[in-house]
Amino acid sequence: MSNSVYNKLINKEAKLAVIGLGYVGLPIALEFARKIQVVGFDINEERVELMRNNVDPSNELDASEFEGCDIKFTTEIEDLSDVQFFVVAVPTPIDGANLPNLSPLLGASRTVGKALKKGDYVVFESTVYPGCTEEDCIPVLEEISGLKFREDFMVGYSPERINPGDKEHTLQNVIKVVSGCCDDSLDNIAKTYELVVEAGVHKASSIKVAEAAKIIENTQRDVNIALINELSIIFNKLGVNTFDVLEAAGTKWNFLKFTPGLVGGHCIGVDPYYLTHKAQQAGYHSKVITSGRYVNDSMGFYIGKQTVKKILATGKHIQDAKILVMGATFKEDVSDIRNSKVIDIINELKSFQVQVDLVDPHASSEEMNQEYGVSLTAEARNDYDAIIVAVNHKKYKSMSEREFRAMMKDDLGIFVDVKGIFKGQIKDLEYWSL
Ligand SMILES: NC(=O)c1ccc[n+]([C@@H]2O[C@H](COP(=O)([O-])OP(=O)(O)OC[C@H]3O[C@@H](n4cnc5c(N)ncnc54)[C@H](O)[C@@H]3O)[C@@H](O)[C@H]2O)c1
Repeated sequence: MSNSVYNKLINKEAKLAVIGLGYVGLPIALEFARKIQVVGFDINEERVELMRNNVDPSNELDASEFEGCDIKFTTEIEDLSDVQFFVVAVPTPIDGANLPNLSPLLGASRTVGKALKKGDYVVFESTVYPGCTEEDCIPVLEEISGLKFREDFMVGYSPERINPGDKEHTLQNVIKVVSGCCDDSLDNIAKTYELVVEAGVHKASSIKVAEAAKIIENTQRDVNIALINELSIIFNKLGVNTFDVLEAAGTKWNFLKFTPGLVGGHCIGVDPYYLTHKAQQAGYHSKVITSGRYVNDSMGFYIGKQTVKKILATGKHIQDAKILVMGATFKEDVSDIRNSKVIDIINELKSFQVQVDLVDPHASSEEMNQEYGVSLTAEARNDYDAIIVAVNHKKYKSMSEREFRAMMKDDLGIFVDVKGIFKGQIKDLEYWSL
């Protein structure tokens, strides 16, 4: 192994490149750059310029985390010429019909293909369906480079487990699954990742196994949350508080602790569609996973409708109602609004001609407007008929009923606590949670 890619990397005779510097790519690029020479490649010049100035465009890392890193940020393919180990971490979104959109991944494969040389390694980190690396990406690498997979270059897959906003489960302290295309490549890939993952690596038996492992981690969460969301709809009809039920059931040792809520973002609400798409291609129409997706994708509309019903029950004209939605991001304490399901609540409310204001301490109003055509309200009013706390940001958790009442018309109204964080604390407002 003396002339291995791993040895070349640690002896600084070869460089590692990360293609796609977002939530996943940038942290791993910086971590590698503390040990070996790294090229950080992205197609977005604006983002690259920010990173050159030690600014993380995704707002996850501080400037101090760029210090002591041997990394060159670039948009130029020529800068990849002395790279021997490519890590691809570009987005894998879905299209309007919930089908995989592989354009960024295939685009990145073309970029790597242009720089690929004999003896090089390519490791994909983007979340995909089992088979995608070998069936979709490797043919592009071969076609563009003119080289032969396994004879001339090696490929692996290593899924990412980082969780934006989570300072506890980090790249360094969570075991990373790695895979290769033969024993030797697996060894090189495992050793390279062990440079940065203190918790160590799990060697999967094949690329497909590693791809499948990642996709089921998120599918399992999605289906479990869907079950709890469905239970919350049932309990609402039965007049039972779901969180009370979960608290009681949770005293059993093997009861799984999931809570109801909106499932947005670019992972849990997206990845299962990659799996169902592949299942369909293989001739199986998945039922449990698609039912879960249906339930979770309906929750925003459900919350909107329940709020409207509560206002109507007070005898008010719904067209005159004003509602404040608190929280726009896809989850708590992040600025990421991609695939946020809060917009479904707003659209449902608006379909009843309700006037809706939206606030969020982390989201950008400009981005909200660009993505969804809804801007943030600079200042909340004091005459709302209902308030919906849609995201459990820390800032909201510390608010008191008095503060919410001050924003309501005549100090009274309907309080919708999507995540159940104010259970037992709201006495005067009409309280409802999932
Ligand atoms: N964000 C997460 O928490 C998370 C966790 C686990 C896995 N993943 C997976 O990791 C992958 C990356 O996700 P992300 O959240 O980091 O995405 P992101 O949107 O934050 O960042 C992607 C970056 O890739 C760049 N890019 C897009 N197309 C490119 C191309 N052809 N060549 C070079 N750069 C390109 C973009 O400009 C952007 O800077 C996805 O497959 C995602 O499902 C994400």
